[in-house]
Amino acid sequence: MTSAKNISQRNVLLSIQNLTISLDDRPGTSPVVNGLTFDVHEGECVGIVGESGSGKSLSSLALLNMLPKGVHISEGQILAQGKNLTQANEKDLRALRGALVSMVFQDPGAALNPSRTVGKLLSDVLEAHSDLSREAIRERSIEVLKEVGFPDPESRLKSFPFQLSGGLRQRVAIAMALINRPRILVADEPTTSLDVSVQKGILQLIRQRTVEDGIGCVFVSHDLGVIAEVADRVVIMYSGQVVEEGPVASVLTNPKHPYTKGLIASAPNMTSTLANPLRPIPGSLPSVGRTPIGCAFQDRCPEKSTGTCTPLKPTWSVDPSDSSHRWLCHSEAK
Ligand SMILES: Nc1ncnc2c1ncn2[C@@H]1O[C@H](COP(=O)(O)OP(=O)(O)OP(=O)(O)O)[C@@H](O)[C@H]1O
Ligand code: SF4
Ligand SMILES: [Mg+2]
Repeated sequence: MTSAKNISQRNVLLSIQNLTISLDDRPGTSPVVNGLTFDVHEGECVGIVGESGSGKSLSSLALLNMLPKGVHISEGQILAQGKNLTQANEKDLRALRGALVSMVFQDPGAALNPSRTVGKLLSDVLEAHSDLSREAIRERSIEVLKEVGFPDPESRLKSFPFQLSGGLRQRVAIAMALINRPRILVADEPTTSLDVSVQKGILQLIRQRTVEDGIGCVFVSHDLGVIAEVADRVVIMYSGQVVEEGPVASVLTNPKHPYTKGLIASAPNMTSTLANPLRPIPGSLPSVGRTPIGCAFQDRCPEKSTGTCTPLKPTWSVDPSDSSHRWLCHSEAK
């Protein structure tokens, strides 16, 4: 991973400021994503981690202003290369999606149109943003397939998705996201459905494109082991809120928030051995819109102090040796 100091000196490509997402039919209840704030620099991958229902997908869809019906951005702004996506109209958004900000969805290979060849899938995306000649489209399609490690791209342009393995379909989906050379790539659990060896290749590919093309990448996963492979920084979400963030190495080796400590202890590929078995975090997330008063994690926290954590909202603490590592908790760092 690149050193945190070097990255923070680069241009900010994506700035998410106080992003708050609420349910249309529950005014007055706690938002489903609450005050998400972080920057992504050129050539940096920021991982978002949290258990199911913590708000990862809604946060990533909001980055392309593509929230589903029933939810809306109620506060905050998203600046992509200075453009405020929360204020953009539908026409501007169509022009920006795929060109400035691109998205890879969970199991994207399965979502490819089965009646289009690889060449057609790629040219559809390219033509939506440019009027290149047929020859230029073919050249760029072959080039991007090479960039995503697709073997023998010239002869595979005529292949249909069903003629490709799962890993190759995934590479086509990533090629579609990259073909217009976006500056920002949002990937929501793009490797969850793949077996471990294919997953590793896709993670390396996303890492390589981020570094070599200077892309700003937001990578969503519920798996800290995956984030450790692909990201420079990590944002830990619990019940729609960021509870800890910092450089991956620092957060994983020196976690401060009790929820992060619990995630690490329960991550199958990080800490478990026969002598040290998994310890899943007992309990579950608060129901949507029903975050308790005080700390959202209080009902599951082994470090809870009733007098403080129940009535009072936790405040941010900062690692004195690295101000980019911070966490939201009353408890003193241990
Ligand atoms: N369209 C919707 N309408 C109402 N509530 C929604 C909608 N989409 C998501 N939610 C709720 O918002 C919360 C956050 O959902 P989100 O999909 O962002 O979670 P996630 O962290 O991506 O979970 P997973 O790991 O399961 O994908 C969940 O409680 C979910 O039920
Ligand atoms: S504020 Fe209290 S309940 Fe919340 S995570 Fe920290 S110690 Fe636990
Ligand atoms: Mg999700």
